[in-house]
Amino acid sequence: MAQPCIRILATGGTIAGTSGSATGKAYRAGQIGIEALLEEARGLDLGMACEGRQIAAIGSQDIGWAEWDALHRECSAALADETVAGVVITHGTDTAEETAFLLDRTLPAAKPIVLTGSMRPADALGSDGMRNLATALRVAADPGGAGRGVLVAMGDQVFAARDVRKAATQGPEAFRGFPRGSIAAVSPSSLEWFGPPARTGEAAHFAWPQSLPRVEVIHAVAAMDRTMVDAALAAGAAGIVLAGLGQGNAPRAVLEALGEAAARGVVVVRASRTDQGLVDRNVEVDDDAFGFVAARALNPARSRILLQLLLASGTTGPARIQAAFD
Ligand code: DGL
Repeated sequence: MAQPCIRILATGGTIAGTSGSATGKAYRAGQIGIEALLEEARGLDLGMACEGRQIAAIGSQDIGWAEWDALHRECSAALADETVAGVVITHGTDTAEETAFLLDRTLPAAKPIVLTGSMRPADALGSDGMRNLATALRVAADPGGAGRGVLVAMGDQVFAARDVRKAATQGPEAFRGFPRGSIAAVSPSSLEWFGPPARTGEAAHFAWPQSLPRVEVIHAVAAMDRTMVDAALAAGAAGIVLAGLGQGNAPRAVLEALGEAAARGVVVVRASRTDQGLVDRNVEVDDDAFGFVAARALNPARSRILLQLLLASGTTGPARIQAAFD
């Protein structure tokens, strides 16, 4: 039986990083190219064929529209290529949640697309890159990985793009999911899914846009005033995401400034600066009165991606925008 072919799209990150030190001190991301990654992947002997493309060679803190546009184009080509069973994207961990969610919302769920990275450089003691790449390749080659949207494989866990976030600065288990944790049990000899794929046959939620409109994230802290709201508006923000206190709260002056922005047609989404949890409508902040949207389970970074896609697609009205967050 022919081995499934997995296409690896490399963007850089620590998984391609080297430091020249055992502890990973002073490392540089994106130093190892796709050919070396492919040699490593083939050497894992996981029962699949691997091919690859170098999309970028950057730390993911520098990812932007050019890389996202290229990734979407290459993922679309792989989805249309009947010789390709699945896609693995190697990526930095800092913005993995944004890239995964952006692609999750703009691609059909026809084949497994798995993003992975590492918390330690390739040449550091305890490097997790090859283990994460092996998990990602196994998921991408598993028929059960289709119909689930874009997935993130990190730390022996598999997360759905809608749930995942980088929750710690260091350590191979830095990624967590909310409201769902890992959606598969990964062991050295098995990969078992918790439940059936929920998006089989599903088309992309959004067409790929020409660009992403400006949406700013404002981090709430005690005793802040409206300065950052005014700065976002002066910069021409079409949307604002509040990384709010607790359940998406903020000092009265900030809420009033955001209310004024909403009244001017700027879409305001209330998310939380806390590590996880739901932000629901009208709990303490009167969203109906202010004209705000509640982020529900999405953190500020993923809320921004979704709001950018909604605005780019011409979706208007708090009710329709809120429905996309629900
Ligand atoms: N340089 C950051 C990035 O590329 C962090 C390193 C990493 O974990 O990939 O996201």
